[in-house]
Amino acid sequence: MPATKPIVIAHRGASGERPEHTLASYTLAIEQGADFIEPDLVMTRDGELVARHENNIAETTDVGSRAEFKDRKTTKTIDGVKYTGWFTEDFTLAELKTLRARERLPMLRRDNTKYDGQFEIPTLREVIALAKSAAVSRGRPVGIYPETKHPTYFASIGLPMEAKLLAELQAAGWDRADAPVFIQSFEVDNLKALSKQTKVRLIQLLDTDGGPADKAQPSYAAMITPEGLKAIAVYAAGIGPNKSLVVKNDGTAMPLVADAHAAGLAVHPWTFRAENFFLPASLRSGINPAGHGRLEEEISRHLAAGVDGFFTDYPYHGVQARDRQSR
Ligand code: G3P
Ligand code: CA
Repeated sequence: MPATKPIVIAHRGASGERPEHTLASYTLAIEQGADFIEPDLVMTRDGELVARHENNIAETTDVGSRAEFKDRKTTKTIDGVKYTGWFTEDFTLAELKTLRARERLPMLRRDNTKYDGQFEIPTLREVIALAKSAAVSRGRPVGIYPETKHPTYFASIGLPMEAKLLAELQAAGWDRADAPVFIQSFEVDNLKALSKQTKVRLIQLLDTDGGPADKAQPSYAAMITPEGLKAIAVYAAGIGPNKSLVVKNDGTAMPLVADAHAAGLAVHPWTFRAENFFLPASLRSGINPAGHGRLEEEISRHLAAGVDGFFTDYPYHGVQARDRQSR
């Protein structure tokens, strides 16, 4: 594996400190030293890519309080799960731009609610522009790490994501192997298709349970075997595993990093968060779920296990832990 420093990927921006997937969240992440900012991507009705973790925007915007969109509330089945809410594919970009973001986790991140109602939903184009201008003003690379969310579902409703994503990267001059870009997906076949259309580095996401929504592989468990990892290496540059596939909550390192490196794959686990609620019991401080525990120690465990980067909601702590380890 390369001898470069592990990369700090700002998960949904500095989402521990600002409402996720807003330019304010990405900007703070860059100020804190993140190497990459992560937009999750979904489609609008008019075929634009916007940054949201899911196409149901009920939880992370003020859409529910907007009388003009009352009749857009609906129920849909996406990747086999039923959701009720408002969906990006039922809105034009112009309509989505009238909405404002809200904190997803107000019980755990109460301070962030003071920003509710302030920030727009950004487009991928705006996220790229932000990364580019920050790279110039800060004199260092700032990359993007976009994730295609529900690609099979969006293709099924006539809004395929991949061609649009590549067009945006091409327009930015970033549709090339050395671009500061990784494209990630929990699905398999859209990454395989992308691997034939672009040299941009691709990352296969892996979870502890279940399998890819496109059913291209029977389970994530099969994909993390040495044979499964060799198959991923045919189309991807790396894997993005759930952190507990790398280091167990009791601190025991798993063989995944060594197996992935043997297959030629980089390893970027997710997601490192400061709140006790998300930390292993031994790294919590106090009993308040919203209190902050020893996040940097958790990240250090993964760095010691040999990861090549990691996703965190708290890029400041990510940079601190990474730089301490790299010294
Ligand atoms: O993309 C890495 C990590 O973000 C995957 O989980 O659900 O936060 O997109 P999610
Ligand atoms: Ca993601």
